[in-house]
Amino acid sequence: LWLAVGIRRRKPGEPAVENGLIPYLGCALQFGANPLQFLRSRQKKHGHIFTCKIAGQYIHFLCDPFSYHSVIRQGRHLDWRKFHFATSVKAFGHDSFDPRHGHTTENLHQTFLKTLQGEALPSLIETMMGHLQDVMLKSDTLSPSKDDWEVDGIFSFCYKVMFESGYLTLFGKELGEDKCMARQAAQKALVLSALENFKEFDKIFPALVAGLPIHVFKSAYSARENLAKTMHAENLSKRENVSDLISMRMILNDSLSTFNDVSKARTHVALLWASQANTLPATFWSLFYMIRSPDALKAAREEVKKVLADAGLTADPSDPTLNLTRDQLDKMPVLDSIIKEAMRLSSASMNVRVAKENFVLHLDNQDSVSIRKDDVIALYPPMLHYDPEIYEDPYEYKFDRFLDENGQEKTIFHHSGRRLRYFYMPFGSGVTKCPGRFFAVYEIKQFLTLVLSYFDMELLDPAIKVPPLDQSRAGLGILQPTYDVDFRYKLISNH
Ligand code: HEM
Repeated sequence: LWLAVGIRRRKPGEPAVENGLIPYLGCALQFGANPLQFLRSRQKKHGHIFTCKIAGQYIHFLCDPFSYHSVIRQGRHLDWRKFHFATSVKAFGHDSFDPRHGHTTENLHQTFLKTLQGEALPSLIETMMGHLQDVMLKSDTLSPSKDDWEVDGIFSFCYKVMFESGYLTLFGKELGEDKCMARQAAQKALVLSALENFKEFDKIFPALVAGLPIHVFKSAYSARENLAKTMHAENLSKRENVSDLISMRMILNDSLSTFNDVSKARTHVALLWASQANTLPATFWSLFYMIRSPDALKAAREEVKKVLADAGLTADPSDPTLNLTRDQLDKMPVLDSIIKEAMRLSSASMNVRVAKENFVLHLDNQDSVSIRKDDVIALYPPMLHYDPEIYEDPYEYKFDRFLDENGQEKTIFHHSGRRLRYFYMPFGSGVTKCPGRFFAVYEIKQFLTLVLSYFDMELLDPAIKVPPLDQSRAGLGILQPTYDVDFRYKLISNH
């Protein structure tokens, strides 16, 4: 009978099971409405690990941070590729990247590490800094003045500036564009249309991950395909200063895969999405919380002033060519903490692994549970990020939460009197940890450094409430605000 109605019965040694009330969906609706609240209530009832049926899938939620390691360390029983590759195929429509499916032999993970980390970073940082200043001060994306305040939504401002700069940093500029006005206009139109298409597609991203076919969403489908068209090899080859990430992926698509042209282009759309979808809201929350907290704004201004002075640089909006090296950006613990704290409060990425076979998962304190083949094991870091034992007053933004008594990065956090290894996980964990995380933090830091150097900024309503997080994306990364918040800015007048 249990089998007939698709309900799982707990076997000895297995975690408690919540089948939910609705066939197939199981607990999906309760989970989706407020994942943190749902998981906390189940943790209270069942303890540190329990199983929920969500949209046909049995998911074991592990809630004890001291046991995270047994899932994050890449044991032979757990598979990370299955879920990740399948999700990318569902959302972006390219052929599978899983080498076991035979479409490519590229080791994508290696490609990411080589082109987004280590020696690849200085040139990404330098290119991004140039584009950020072009977009803020030279192109007509914004029109800041010395005398009059310009009003905009903070999210809208961050979206415009970061999307254009990040897009040009990864995908380069059209050849010869700088010298010709008509080409400049065409370039601008291309970026604007990429932004609109990105937004349209990004809206339905959670639905695609949940398994709905993209054809249900006509305009999002054409938005994705429009983006892909601009990323066909013949179009990308007309661009200069294309990042190592995209150039290398083009070469490997051609040499190691059997993808057709459309599939190749869609793999680049996947990277555009990965590089923007979290960065845009993370930039919003960083800027919003920084402007809203007078102490944060003051400390950030002082840090930026000092770093520029030490580097012998002066911000001049009529010649916006500030450049900071990686080392200089590394010496900005206040901005680091401002960004970290903003992401602690807004991140909701789920870390997922799939069981390759039936096995026993060993937890902290000699506990263990039996896991069945093909079950999913999930970690939900907001459980840590909002834990009052780890972070006092967890719902409050404290810009210096990640600073120690010497004003340097704080790395020691405790739970139940024990030091934690995992306390901050907006970028995922272990082998699937975001390969772009260093660049992501640098670009947000660069953005904050530049707005602080060139602009005076104020909230229109200094007492404005924090906008609620849009939970429709819970599980997928940094959550967006449910509505935008207005601010005003003008060029700093002491230049
Ligand atoms: C994957 C977070 C920015 C490139 C991921 C994952 C998370 C994440 C949670 C999935 C990890 C997992 O499944 O366990 C973020 C956040 C960002 C950010 C919070 C900004 C604040 C970036 C940027 C880039 C990037 C700027 C590239 C320029 C990637 C790639 C993957 C990824 C390529 C897929 C890795 C793989 O499947 O092997 N990111 N990311 N990310 N991210 Fe980021």
